[in-house]
Amino acid sequence: MASVEPINIIILGAGKGGTALIELFASCAGVKIVGVADTNPNAPGMQRARLLNIPTTTDAASLISRDGANLIVDVTGDPAMAALIANRKPRGAEALSGIAAKLVWSLIQDEQELREQLVHTEKLATLGTLAASVAHEVNNPLHWILGFAQLIQEEKKAVVIKEYAQEIVDSVKHLSGIAKSLSMYSQASFQGELVGIDVPDLLDKALKMAMFATVLDEVEVVREFAPVPEIQADPGDLIQVFVNLIVNAAQAMKGRGRLTLATLVKGGAITVSIHDTGPGIPPEHRDKIFAPFFTTKQGEKGTGLGLYVVRNLIHKHGGQIVVESEEGKGTTFHIQFPTSDRPEAAPSPRG
Ligand SMILES: Nc1ncnc2c1ncn2[C@@H]1O[C@H](COP(=O)(O)OP(=O)(O)OP(=O)(O)O)[C@@H](O)[C@H]1O
Ligand SMILES: [Mg+2]
Repeated sequence: MASVEPINIIILGAGKGGTALIELFASCAGVKIVGVADTNPNAPGMQRARLLNIPTTTDAASLISRDGANLIVDVTGDPAMAALIANRKPRGAEALSGIAAKLVWSLIQDEQELREQLVHTEKLATLGTLAASVAHEVNNPLHWILGFAQLIQEEKKAVVIKEYAQEIVDSVKHLSGIAKSLSMYSQASFQGELVGIDVPDLLDKALKMAMFATVLDEVEVVREFAPVPEIQADPGDLIQVFVNLIVNAAQAMKGRGRLTLATLVKGGAITVSIHDTGPGIPPEHRDKIFAPFFTTKQGEKGTGLGLYVVRNLIHKHGGQIVVESEEGKGTTFHIQFPTSDRPEAAPSPRG
């Protein structure tokens, strides 16, 4: 990729508008948010910025006068802010405020809604592919339950009845496991609610879900789970990420090969790797695979939304995804999640 001058942005105002700006800019290549300011340290955008490891401050004036930003975006709605920016901004930095900032904000709101709809559409499409296999998987234990219940009705020996009852209990547990994974998968995307996630456990759940969406019978699954701290995330979002990557891996291997799921902590980040021994991704495709609607699965089930959604959801959680691939050998997707360092914006060197 050609290298371009990075755009370093300061966002003033961390309400709805500021939060939407953070979401969008955080996932734009070549754009870096160097600081976010709001008088309310608990404004939604301040919380999101901390999650993304973006420095935050309640002191807008000192953030504005810091070197390092070449664009200051003001969505505070505070009429005095324009004068403050004009007086304090470093030479060379541009300001976007007033109606221009409002216009950018409303464009971003639309884009944001569109992204959320695409995530949801992708989830529904996957649920559609899961439905047939789930119905099949549910049918077997139901037959067992019915069969054993009928046997119990005619059985006199308490020991045998107990055995049959145990079979029923096991079948119900199996069914309830399927129902739990499905309901986790179909959950709506998060609205700011994060919970502590045990990543290896969620990878195992995703693997079970992926088995409904694709053929994994002849895939050797290797788990290399180093203990990792919990990450704060939305389980519905993360399972969507993992299922997509596992399904892609299985589809690439055409149902045969070795799938390695790994977790490790390195350099202050939690890394999840999903490796397959498929044909790899040709170099000319590597820049395109995360674009919406890019698919090489024409005539099959590919919508090309999988990796686009994966990257969006990972960025939403402050993470990064990179791909390593060698033609003829395989592909590895590495996802890095930050640990929970919460930096504050450094005070202005000029006071
Ligand atoms: N593990 C992989 N090995 C080889 N190629 C891959 C792998 N993962 C993704 N790709 C390539 O990237 C493309 C885009 O993947 P993505 O998941 O976005 O869409 P898709 O799998 O084609 O369709 P969908 O996910 O909507 O069913 C794939 O069509 C494939 O060419
Ligand atoms: Mg896919």
